[in-house]
Amino acid sequence: MSVIKVAILGFGTVGEGVYKTIQSHTEELEGVLGRKVEVAAVLIRNKQKKRNIDEDVLITSDFDEILDLPQLDVIVEAIVDKEPPFTFLKQAIQKGCHVITANKEMFAHHGNELLRLAEKHNVSVGYEATVAGGIPVIQTLRQLLNVNRVRHIQGILNGTSNFILTEMREKKHSFSAALSLAQAKGFAEADPTNDVEGYDAFYKTMILSRIAFGEEPNWEEVGREGITSITSELIESAEKHGLRFKHIASICMEGGQINATVRPALVGKSHPFYSIEGVENAVNVNSDIVGSITLQGPGAGMFPTASAVIEDLVYVCQNQSTNKNYKKTISVNYGDKEGNGDELWFIQGLSKDYKNPLITWIAQSTDDTAVIQTTREEREKLINQQKVTSCFQILGEYEKLGNNKEVTLAVL
Ligand code: HSE
Repeated sequence: MSVIKVAILGFGTVGEGVYKTIQSHTEELEGVLGRKVEVAAVLIRNKQKKRNIDEDVLITSDFDEILDLPQLDVIVEAIVDKEPPFTFLKQAIQKGCHVITANKEMFAHHGNELLRLAEKHNVSVGYEATVAGGIPVIQTLRQLLNVNRVRHIQGILNGTSNFILTEMREKKHSFSAALSLAQAKGFAEADPTNDVEGYDAFYKTMILSRIAFGEEPNWEEVGREGITSITSELIESAEKHGLRFKHIASICMEGGQINATVRPALVGKSHPFYSIEGVENAVNVNSDIVGSITLQGPGAGMFPTASAVIEDLVYVCQNQSTNKNYKKTISVNYGDKEGNGDELWFIQGLSKDYKNPLITWIAQSTDDTAVIQTTREEREKLINQQKVTSCFQILGEYEKLGNNKEVTLAVL
């Protein structure tokens, strides 16, 4: 029986997870593919480091040795940075290998080029692991997009940020203690700035945008904000209002244009993201036929990410093209520009005596925080005039806590 030969580039959390999963699920893979899957080589940086890899596997730090193997069917790339991974994958495709990547940054920058090259060489590129860890969001979107038209996608796309916000709220950990824990658990990027400043979620958002809308917004115009401005005090105050901070990526088509943001926002109990806790990610897709669906699951970590890679491995080995995925044209406008009407905001620092007919006070707390309803324009003015010290949008419904419960609708 012939064998499928795989090389794994990188043996960090993801690479090791893929290696272990191929070993632990040999029978399942053979059952579905009709051929045994074998790891032929692993590319590592430091040859001296002791690793738990079988003796018959080539362990090398020279990529050319991998390309020179007599048989190589699939390359799994789990390194960081754009280079050398991009160059390695181009070479692999040119040699006729399927490639699978978990590298968001590289794929956000060079995905189009890799997909075009793969089409030319009649191989596939798997990238399920680049977005939302173990959640099969890319396959789901691809399936959904056969006929549905996506209006809006919202997601918690960075497991580390969500983990930190949850630890700070539930266990009262400091930001840095929660980040250290996320690093120890293998959730964070090699440079965790990518997680906490929103770059990682931004790259994932751009990948989703290409799948859903066939193109990306201008990167420079995407508002990107991380979670570093969220203090333990703000988290506690928000809780008093029945709200939780979540780091939310949002993309929608407005007036023929794609608008995207990656920023912290607040959600109340009835929002699908309220109970997405710890390292979990969630993706809410709103499309014209099905309406709103939410997928949730582990967004980072060794085995969830390995699961996405292994599903891609099966997919590419079954010769299913992963390349035909981007919608080519968008001809429909999906509605009014967001932000023309009143929206709900959680604010800190606005004087309770402040009077403005365009601002409605919805709820106030003794600790200097409040929920107000106003337009985006007025909110900008408050910030520019330094009338508030913090201001975050509330998504979904806002249910006022206390005896006289009121529900106010915010934007989705
Ligand atoms: N650092 C990433 C995260 C890993 O925390 O979501 C998964 O992409």
